[in-house]
Amino acid sequence: MQTDLLIGGSWRSGTDGERFDVINPANGDVIIDVAAGTAADATAAVQAASEAQPLWAATAPRVRAEVLRNCWQTLVEHQDELADLIVTEHGKPRSDAIGEIAYAAEFFRWNAEEAVRIHGSLSMAPGGDKRIIVHHPPVGVVVMVTPWNFPAAMITRKLAPALAAGNAVVIKPPRETPLTALRVAELCEQAGVPAGVINVVPTMTSSAWFDAAVDHKATRMVSFTGSTAVGRVLLRRCADRVLKTVMELGGNAPFIVFADADIDAAVDGAMTAKMRHSAETCTAANRFYAEAKVADEFTEKLAQAMGAIRVGSGFDESVTCGPMINAGAVDAMHELVTAAVGGGAVTRLGGNPVAGPGFFYEPTVLANVNHQSPIAAAEVFGPIAPVIPFTDTDLMIDQANDTEMGLAAYVYTEDLRRGLQVSERLHSGMVGLNRGAMSDPAAPFGGMKQSGLGREGASEGIYEFCETQYIAANW
Ligand code: SIN
Repeated sequence: MQTDLLIGGSWRSGTDGERFDVINPANGDVIIDVAAGTAADATAAVQAASEAQPLWAATAPRVRAEVLRNCWQTLVEHQDELADLIVTEHGKPRSDAIGEIAYAAEFFRWNAEEAVRIHGSLSMAPGGDKRIIVHHPPVGVVVMVTPWNFPAAMITRKLAPALAAGNAVVIKPPRETPLTALRVAELCEQAGVPAGVINVVPTMTSSAWFDAAVDHKATRMVSFTGSTAVGRVLLRRCADRVLKTVMELGGNAPFIVFADADIDAAVDGAMTAKMRHSAETCTAANRFYAEAKVADEFTEKLAQAMGAIRVGSGFDESVTCGPMINAGAVDAMHELVTAAVGGGAVTRLGGNPVAGPGFFYEPTVLANVNHQSPIAAAEVFGPIAPVIPFTDTDLMIDQANDTEMGLAAYVYTEDLRRGLQVSERLHSGMVGLNRGAMSDPAAPFGGMKQSGLGREGASEGIYEFCETQYIAANW
């Protein structure tokens, strides 16, 4: 297993020889230690990327596409091994980890198909004095800072379009899940990505690392997935060098159930939206608004479904929710639940941390939650479902939009006209209409408001990693 830094196609230890432990959140044990990159290593990685990038950019799009397709195939061939790594360092159930690798690999297949379709345009200027030629070269070197909740897919969602467009990258994986990142990079090199085009530098000193990466003159772009709080800090830092950014930040998704909805389907969708990948997704349903006439039925059925969840190690096949990433995450959830109950919410299920070893929280359903409760405002990265009854649709939509976040939202109704009207009124980059999941490499993933800038996936995703150049031409 690779546990060193990948810089310029070589595996090496960090400049100061430090290492850090990777912890299995299902039992708190140390899995292995990993080289800790320093600021000097970040600089070296950007330098290596800048040296490899021109040749990769000059490689024919068809050839880049074939390399990306090989990456897709290689990841699929190593699905079991990669899923085991994810379960070990993240903890999610193995079936989710298998699904994550299929999802992660698919970004390579989709972008292999897009690599040969980065279109520009040619037009005559309205004044007839010149031709306007527009084309899209790669930005150059991209720094990627990725989260722990999808140790593979949140890397490939950035990496595949960046490579398709002809960029070279430096990845800072999270300290919680560096092993999957290192293995994905190794497999991509085996699949034909040239040395130096992908560099991976885990670290314990994120802000020094990031400063060094941003200050290198070859860095032209930062792509980040993580919390809005950290995103703001990185954006400020990127402003110093006016870097292009893509920011996939926090969510606070409302999940709306109208009285005419198929309640069983809404509960199924709610379980997907809330619980996929151990309830640790930014698209997770955060607040459930159920029309008063069906609020009890929905809450009861949701509590039954949540009550059937089995919490434990992701390697146990009967387990459907793994551990939270660390003890702090469990404490944060318990604080939110305690505040909601203190504010009048009724606990229908769970409501407590699970005794260790490992970092677990009981699947929890809270009824009669108040929209003012902190749990309705916070991003809840855990198996907690607060239900807020509503009678007035306009007020409910105001409440659903009453957040600085705008990543995902969900609407359940049998009336498609109303479903589309309500969807359009939600200030949210993505809406699941009678669906509990919307992520797809072929669709533009991203948020409005403080949930982010730019989009990942779809055709939009590849242009984020391109410049636009206009040539005014006469001939
Ligand atoms: C995320 O949590 O950022 C990603 C969720 C997804 O891709 O479905």
